[in-house]
Formats: sequence, structure tokens, C-alpha cells
Amino acid sequence: MHISHRQHFFDHLAQTSDFPLALEIEKAEGVYMYGPDGKSYMDLISGIGVSNVGHRHPKVLEAIHAQLDKHMHLLVYGEYVQGAQVQLAKALTDTLHVEAPDPSPFGLIDNVYFTNSGTEAVEGAMKLAKRFTRRREFISCYNAYHGATQGALSLAGAEFFKRNFRPLLPGVKHIQHGHLPDLEKITDQTAAVVIEVIGGESGVRVPDAGYLVALRRRCTETGTLLILDEIQTGFGRTGSFWAFEQYGIYPDILLSAKSMGGGMPIGAFMASQQIMKVLKTNPILGHITTFGGHPVSCAASLAALRVTIDEQLAEASIAKGELFKSLLIHPEIKEIRGKGLMLAAEMASFDQLKATIDQCIEQGVVTDWFLFCDNSMRIAPPLTITEAQIREACATIIKVLNS
Ligand SMILES: Cc1ncc(COP(=O)(O)O)c(C=O)c1O
Repeated sequence: MHISHRQHFFDHLAQTSDFPLALEIEKAEGVYMYGPDGKSYMDLISGIGVSNVGHRHPKVLEAIHAQLDKHMHLLVYGEYVQGAQVQLAKALTDTLHVEAPDPSPFGLIDNVYFTNSGTEAVEGAMKLAKRFTRRREFISCYNAYHGATQGALSLAGAEFFKRNFRPLLPGVKHIQHGHLPDLEKITDQTAAVVIEVIGGESGVRVPDAGYLVALRRRCTETGTLLILDEIQTGFGRTGSFWAFEQYGIYPDILLSAKSMGGGMPIGAFMASQQIMKVLKTNPILGHITTFGGHPVSCAASLAALRVTIDEQLAEASIAKGELFKSLLIHPEIKEIRGKGLMLAAEMASFDQLKATIDQCIEQGVVTDWFLFCDNSMRIAPPLTITEAQIREACATIIKVLNS
């Protein structure tokens, strides 16, 4: 371990808690990360849902290098025609030609607004929903996380994160993910419902088949926009390119980030032109960003999108997820929830889970818990993980649980 790096980490890097993991990583490739001493760690959390195509996928690196040879930043988003941006926007909207039995009243999504991050995609989508509906109220879910900036934080479904940052946005109500009676709270005053298809930070909560259909219908009935946050679930994580495809519904606004960049920072909010066009006027330039849709990130994202489709990573994640479920059978594991490679293994308590996670890291397997669910182990490896690697990871977890 480089003592000097570790010391600088504590002395000069702003910390987010008093107990950072402080694991020193020098290199990463595929599903592995490597410490300065060469020790390997299997990454079962993908940098929290980012490295779906694995670390340093060769196609992503190639696209980045090719873009670097052309140009980097040119001008604030939306002015110049830049190949990397338009090719990615076209490819993203191609993934959204999905016929759903319960569609959006505004048609297929054909417009993309690029951002730098997930929370910024949420902010843009909230502004868009206010402008389009001329309403002010939002609904999100208890125990949901949509980002750390103040609009997205207003949506957070736990007072713990919000209390000391108030005042936040007024007019935010909460519903319980998957709970049909709560849909009554959506009214003709609601600008939008912001919701994940599968609740991520609440510990991977998969809704019943009919719930999202009922939600889609209630939104349509009340003229409320349905904003699906696929920042964790998108880009193949749950068994289809977008998770909503498995539920027969279609969003009015779709959010992406995290794995979208193949390891580079980028996000997006996407909608039909009919909705998106309101951002052009009253005021003009009402939503702008300098670096959103950075060409190098766009090139990396397009490569990640193509890899996901060409290598059929979404489809493969279904069997891989089932393999995890079949191998992680142990008396200390109460339940394994999830779809594809978005999984949570529930244990009896945080203390037990934390001890397990710490020992797994010592044994070279990195896992984690969830913001709003601290008794469940996060299992969300790169979708490129092989069957042999899944067996190795599960053998380590079971060995730790037996020790
Ligand atoms: C579902 C969801 N939405 C939004 C965000 C915020 O994304 P970012 O950290 O890129 O701002 C996250 C991050 O964990 C997330 O999981």
C-alpha cells in the first residue's frame, strides 16, 4: 500500500463519512480491480451500477481514443452539431422503439438531453415536467434515492437525508413502491411521478406485474408525467436493455446515467419531441449545461451501448442472476431478491452483513449494502462476469459465511 496516497486521501480528499472503505485500487480490468501490491478484487458492485460492460472494455477504450483524436469539448451543450452526441442520441432512441400495451400518450421517445450525471438528469426532467404540465407537485417513493442535488434530494424518500438541508422543494409527496392503494395520491395536481422500475437503494424491490401497469394508467388518467428513473436498472442490468420493457409499459420521460457511459461520466433525460420542445422557449436557454454530453463520454457511451446489444449482455444476465441465486443458498441468507444481475441477499442484521462484507473484501470479493437497506448484500457485478467467476465469487461468500 502506498502510505503517501493513503495519507493524502485522509488529509486532502473531502470525505463523505468517518468510515470510508479506503481500499486502494491502482488498476481495473473486466470484473477485477487490483491494489498497488497486485492483490486482485472481484468487483461485485460495478462501482455502484456503472461498469456493466466491465472495467476498461476494449471497445470502449477504442472509442475513447478515436474521439480524443478528433476533439474534446467544443461548446456548451446544444449549439454545435457533434458526431459523438448525435450518433449516441440516435442509438439511444433506437432502443426505445418499443411497442407497449400501456404506452405513453405522448408517443415514442425520440429526443435526448445529455447531462453529466444521474442527479442532473433528474433535475432536468423535473424542470421539464413543470414546464410541460404547468404543475408543481411531484410524487416519489419512500426509501428511494434519485440523487444528491437539491431537486433530486427533495424526492428522496427518507427524512434522514433531507432534514439538515431544508428548505427543499415544496409539494413532494411519497408513495410506497408496489403499493396499489397509494396510487390514489396521484391527482390532476401532480406534475410527475418519479420512480424506479425496480427499487434500487431500498434493497432491490421488484414490483408485482400489475403495479406498473396500474401506475401508468393512473398517470395517463390524471395527465401526470411518468418519469422512470433507469439510472441503475438501465443498460441491460435486469435482463432487458431497459427494465420497463419487461412490464408492458412505456414512460413519458426516461432517465439514464451510471452504466450509460461505460465508465465515463454521462447521463440523460429522454422524452418525445412533443414534451421536450417546451425547453426551447419561455425562457430560451432555460436548461443548459457546459459539459453535459461531453463528446468523449458520448463516444464511450455509444460503444457501451453497442457492446451491451452485440454481446447480448442483458439476455445473458438472466441466467447469470439465476446462477447467483442457486449458489447463494445458506442458512444465514434469508432471501435473495432481484432480476438479472441486480440482486440483494438479505441477512439477519447489519452487524452480520458488515462482518461478512469485510471478510469478503479481505478474501478479494467486493460487495456492499444499500442506502436504505443495511441488512442486504448488494450483488451487481459487471454483466460480462463469467459463469466460472460467479462460482468463484459465491464460493468465497459461502466460505466466509461458514467461517
Ligand atoms: C436510481 C438512481 N437515481 C439517481 C442517482 C443519482 O445518480 P448520480 O450519482 O450520477 O448523480 C442514483 C445514484 O445512485 C440512483 O441509484
